[in-house]
Amino acid sequence: MTVIVEFDPNGAEAIRSALGPDAAVLPGLDALHAHLDVNVFEDCVVLGPTVDQIDADQLAETMRVNRPSLGVVLVRRRIDTAVLSDALRSGIREVVQERDLSGLAVAVRRTREIADRLRVQVAGTEGDLRPTRRGRIVTVFSAKGGCGKTTLATNLAAALATSGRGTVALVDLDLAFGDVGIALQLFPTHTIADAVPLGEDLDGPALLALLTSHRSGLQALVAPLEPSGGDLITPELVVQILDLLAQEFDYIVVDTPPALDDHVLAAFDKSDVVALLATLDIPALKNLKLTLETLEMISFPRDRLSVVLNRADSKVGLAIGEVEKTLKAPIVAQIPSSRDVPASTNRGVALVTDDPKSPVSIAIRDFMDKFVLAPVSEDDIPTQMRTDRRGGRRWRK
Ligand SMILES: Nc1ncnc2c1ncn2[C@@H]1O[C@H](COP(=O)(O)OP(=O)(O)OP(=O)(O)O)[C@@H](O)[C@H]1O
Ligand SMILES: [Mg+2]
Repeated sequence: MTVIVEFDPNGAEAIRSALGPDAAVLPGLDALHAHLDVNVFEDCVVLGPTVDQIDADQLAETMRVNRPSLGVVLVRRRIDTAVLSDALRSGIREVVQERDLSGLAVAVRRTREIADRLRVQVAGTEGDLRPTRRGRIVTVFSAKGGCGKTTLATNLAAALATSGRGTVALVDLDLAFGDVGIALQLFPTHTIADAVPLGEDLDGPALLALLTSHRSGLQALVAPLEPSGGDLITPELVVQILDLLAQEFDYIVVDTPPALDDHVLAAFDKSDVVALLATLDIPALKNLKLTLETLEMISFPRDRLSVVLNRADSKVGLAIGEVEKTLKAPIVAQIPSSRDVPASTNRGVALVTDDPKSPVSIAIRDFMDKFVLAPVSEDDIPTQMRTDRRGGRRWRK
């Protein structure tokens, strides 16, 4: 259920009718506290425009510690940066403009989804204060721009989200020019830059409130809207964000900029799988070889690297066997070229869900099945079937 506190009766009724029959109005903050004491599964509180901002911040701060699954949604007449930063700092999940009643309904739905997820997690870790869940982190990278990183990252995340194998977060680490939000036609209210002012208050619930839902089920942490918006994001913050997401989600897919900077290296360090993308052209392959050599120099574990060839069917006179010889690494997946890819991007949909039979979708799902999905426990597989499910090709020294 959702409870509303708003002192103006007309305003309270407008909010209540926007939220449907599963919402009730309470007469004030004392009544709210009394209600919450009794109703331990209450998951969402909406505070209307007449509730004092300081009271709202205090309530959110208390609940964040005592009852992390409860989400507070704040309705304000005017939303400015002061309101937003106070709200973020105190742990208010969403701030919605008074007249945006459909936005309010979406914010409440999202808050309740988060509450559900947090409750499941708390139930799973009861009696053990350490987070036990550890999601798999998959980073998609190529040092040359335009190779298809965002295409692979968004489609892989959508494929995982619809695979029934777990929850999925997608992080856009292309801090200056990230376009995950555009590729998936998202309308984010927060970006990764909002994690900076949270400082020590950045925790699981605060981070979940910065995510934007996509219809495939994935939750995206989008890049800042301005190219300089990510200037204050440090590699340490990237590590903290990935650690927190790995406690909340089963899979975390990371899109990257075309440069092996400290943020990308921090993501690599946390990753179970690093998909290195190339296309069949000399600059892309040269950059991939340099990336492989750099990773070798820093002793990055080779078994976490997967070389993926995009637009693999391009007729450019380079044989795949020759490319593997030059790279001294196997190409584990080949994604064909298709006009469906830019067409789906322009429509803001993920090709894997929009056209699951497209050869590109099939190739991406095949890569997911073989290299990304968490291995099924050996105990679950009959002995005679315990073979190398990855296809067995090895890196050459
Ligand atoms: N397999 C493919 N077939 C056809 N077009 C493709 C394919 N993969 C990617 N593209 C197109 O190539 C362009 C670049 O792709 P994308 O944005 O995914 O690359 P990127 O590596 O993320 O680029 P950047 O380095 O600029 O972030 C897009 O227009 C995309 O639609
Ligand atoms: Mg990109």
